[in-house]
Amino acid sequence: MPEDCGPEAAPDAQVAGDLCMSREQMLDLGQKALELVVGRFENLPGENAWEGEFRQVLKDQLFEDPPEDGRPAAEVIERAAREVLPFTLRNDHPRSFGFIPSSPTWPGVVADLMAAGYHVNQCTWLVASGPSQLELVVIDWMRRWLGYPEGAGGLFTSGGSAASVDAFVAAREAAGHPERATVYMSDQSHSALSRAAMIVGVRRDRIRMVPSDTSFRMDMDALARAVADDRDAGLGPIAVAANAGTTGTGAIDRLEELADFCAAEGLWLHVDAAYGGFAVVTEQGKRLLRGIERADSIGLDAHKWFFQPYEAGCLLVKDEETLKDAFAVRPDILQDTVWGANHPNFSNLGLQLSRSVRALKVWMSIQTFGMAAFRRAVSNGMELSARAEDYVRESPVLEAMCAVTLGVVCFRVNPAGEDLDEEVLDKVNRTVLARMFWDDPAFMSSTLLRGTFVLRMCIINHTTTWDDVRETLEAVERFGSEAVRAGKRSG
Ligand SMILES: Cc1ncc(COP(=O)(O)O)c(C=O)c1O
Repeated sequence: MPEDCGPEAAPDAQVAGDLCMSREQMLDLGQKALELVVGRFENLPGENAWEGEFRQVLKDQLFEDPPEDGRPAAEVIERAAREVLPFTLRNDHPRSFGFIPSSPTWPGVVADLMAAGYHVNQCTWLVASGPSQLELVVIDWMRRWLGYPEGAGGLFTSGGSAASVDAFVAAREAAGHPERATVYMSDQSHSALSRAAMIVGVRRDRIRMVPSDTSFRMDMDALARAVADDRDAGLGPIAVAANAGTTGTGAIDRLEELADFCAAEGLWLHVDAAYGGFAVVTEQGKRLLRGIERADSIGLDAHKWFFQPYEAGCLLVKDEETLKDAFAVRPDILQDTVWGANHPNFSNLGLQLSRSVRALKVWMSIQTFGMAAFRRAVSNGMELSARAEDYVRESPVLEAMCAVTLGVVCFRVNPAGEDLDEEVLDKVNRTVLARMFWDDPAFMSSTLLRGTFVLRMCIINHTTTWDDVRETLEAVERFGSEAVRAGKRSG
């Protein structure tokens, strides 16, 4: 590498190597970046879980033409760290409880740096045999955790959305690609699933949102009726997407019954375990998710409850051939990639050709900490959410809105003895959420359960402590009591 290249090099060195840096420059910049990132990790607990800025402010700050000449690299990353990166939800903050949080381990973060630095394109065996073997290893670990048989396989994806698309492609092909295809999911399913169905060509009006029961699990009778009605109408049911942890409440559909039903009906069973799936590494999770191993495909996100940086989704299928059949194409331009015997090409199992080596982060962090530590970290979320549920049920101010199964707690402010009507409760709880947003370091989100506004905490961060959870619930109680008193004064 030329010693004199890079932005700080002589400005007239404009021919070869304009986009290079010297070893010293690379190390300097890398060191600076590492210090910023490690500093962020260290300072996280003392900061707010959320920081955002309005568009006009950020536009004024950032909107500009790309500079014709480079600037000192250190200034550029300082600017990124000052003007861009802080304005986010800090998903890994110990009090980040909104949506589905994510708290990566440091070896996972470093693995992404290495994957970028080694510049792996994890597409085919020819191009990346070492990383391909590593992906086989990690997918095989997951296969065993999930209880899948030998012959099962899968791949890393960008996330749960992409895993759902790949799964529905496999389902559609296994069903012989019927023209009037229908798919079934519950009214609690993540929007990624209906979007995936649309992407694979299922018309919107043929995506059946099967009602859920009082525990937010798919109503099996309603599912059976919907499938029968569609068959009578000449439609082509291809797949049922079950939930192993709904995003709203953490509910788990009846996986055994669904497997029986799908087997009898000749339907593909996909289980969306994007956030809940990694609970299988614990005994409790394995019990809760019993039956998952009977699904034709399972989507799960290591960037949710398995402590990896984005993006680390996975799709596993019970029979790897179903994915190979679904995605098989043989372009001439890639003919050289058929190299050696029994060398799998991951790009033939899903929608991406160029792919980063996502398995590396899972592998490096498990190698570093060991499975026992991962099991404890997953259990931490289960224990804290169970404790939060107890707290809510004992609180004179709060009301539990669903049973806690997989790390999600739904509740609302509804002080005992106040007898507040639904309209008032809706207003009070929206006020509480707004107060949490502006006046408390924690971040939580809300959802609607059967039309009722509820507060929602997802407690799956491995650095979260009981004090984080308790103090957040205490803040909700405080803001709730204040909102109720204010409501009485004004009305
Ligand atoms: C249950 C569930 N399924 C699917 C998704 C979509 O996954 P991703 O955001 O990784 O694409 C999510 C995201 O939160 C989810 O919670």
